[in-house]
Amino acid sequence: MLETAVPASGGDGERLNPLRAGIESDRITDPCSIVLFGASGDLFKRMLLPAIWSLRMRGMLPNGFALIGFARTKYSDDEFREYCREQLEQFAPDGSKPRGELWDTFARCLGYITADFKQVAHFEQLRERLDENDKRAGTGGNRLFYLATPPSVFPGIIEMLHRADLDPHSNEHGWTRVVIEKPFGIDLESARALQKTVERVFSEHDVYRIDHYLGKEPVQDIMALRFANTIFEPIWNRNYIQSVQITSAESIGIEDRGNYYDHAGALRDMIQNHVLNLLALVAMEPPASSDADAIRNEKFKVFSAIARPHHEDVMKMSARGQYGPGSIDGEKVPGYRQEPDVAPQSNTETFAALRLGVDSWRWAGVPFYLRSGKRLAKKISEIAVTFKPIPHRLYGESTDAIEPNMLVVKIEPDEGVALRFEAKVPGPKSHIRSVSMDFNYGTGFGFHSPPAYERLLSDAMRGDQTLFTRWDAVELAWEIIMPVLDVWENTKDFSFPNYAAGDEGPDTALTLFADWRRL
Ligand code: BG6
Repeated sequence: MLETAVPASGGDGERLNPLRAGIESDRITDPCSIVLFGASGDLFKRMLLPAIWSLRMRGMLPNGFALIGFARTKYSDDEFREYCREQLEQFAPDGSKPRGELWDTFARCLGYITADFKQVAHFEQLRERLDENDKRAGTGGNRLFYLATPPSVFPGIIEMLHRADLDPHSNEHGWTRVVIEKPFGIDLESARALQKTVERVFSEHDVYRIDHYLGKEPVQDIMALRFANTIFEPIWNRNYIQSVQITSAESIGIEDRGNYYDHAGALRDMIQNHVLNLLALVAMEPPASSDADAIRNEKFKVFSAIARPHHEDVMKMSARGQYGPGSIDGEKVPGYRQEPDVAPQSNTETFAALRLGVDSWRWAGVPFYLRSGKRLAKKISEIAVTFKPIPHRLYGESTDAIEPNMLVVKIEPDEGVALRFEAKVPGPKSHIRSVSMDFNYGTGFGFHSPPAYERLLSDAMRGDQTLFTRWDAVELAWEIIMPVLDVWENTKDFSFPNYAAGDEGPDTALTLFADWRRL
């Protein structure tokens, strides 16, 4: 086994684990003010606020720091502090609840502006507040604008930042960056329109487009696995690899996001961004350096090499599904069309699968199968690389199935890497069976990875764009999925709902590819 014998947590094992050395490196960010547009929303309370608080708890925020909420809901500064405390009571992980001196000093960094995003006066008020912070809180003129609002308001906010002299060109004292949540547009055309607005105000090096999958530790490890080892890269090509399957399955439904989801669907929500970014990490060539643009250039090349599906081929290289009523963990759950804010005859897919090819010397002929869906049997994200079968059978009784080798990068809920290979079953016969070498972050390093948003926020504050998507790649990702979107939107699927909540997905996914790993 590759696993170290050190227990996952607690006790001497964790303290003495040599792999832990250096894990908590000093990554203190620049002094800055973060302005949170949409601070009364869901993303802020569930993800962003706990991430910022956790950075504070781990000593990774600078002394000169301020967080200003900017949203429609009416709060005074004190009410906003109280709101944040209540949310952290609920959403901060155990052991990091907002208490004591640490919380008191953090609370003093919080402020709020009740705002109408269409009123330039409110943005001017924000500018005054930021200037004041620079003087009083030592935030050094540095500003991070975080757009966590519904996407329809992104262009208006960017425009207002410009009109209120909050753009990078008007800031003589420090840096000005903008973090833009996904989705970046709802199709190619709207993404291009949004980009036009963005680039009127910000240069590409000031723009941080979020894809939170890139902040997940096992996702970052894909490059390390490939480029910090010699054993994988020589076989990482069409000569040895049969196929690649990338899965991002969820057991949750659409929760209370019907309004958004019914206009989005699985292809837009997950495949265009998260899943395609995973594909890029698997397929990219080794970058010349670890520089953000060196890496992002290679990802761009992967997307450039993916053949755009022809409209007439879409049905052959894709499968879609929508869940009906079913049960998850023994509990009955409604079908998609019965969810709140979903049209009763909705044609929106809650499951999407695609077969794509990367037309390059390395990958010619290797199919990449991608799938993602809601209300599937379980929550699991992984990449499975299947190697070619052995050329000649030497061992094994005639009834033994000799499985091809498979390398699985486990992203969620387990985090690690597993290698499946064949071994002889002990005994006088030459029976062969699949076994697995497993590496797990938890047990290996005695350390559970910080949530993606922590890493991404601190990178944005430090000016590291490596884990953020660049416009050219976002545009290509839209180009790749547009033909599928067009065909799906223009043809109603009369078989919907075609899988029950809690299943493996629709049967059509098996027609596309019979060897999906079971969820
Ligand atoms: C988001 C999607 O980007 O990712 C959600 O909008 C989805 O629909 C979520 O549930 C999944 O993220 P994770 O980290 O839970 O796999």
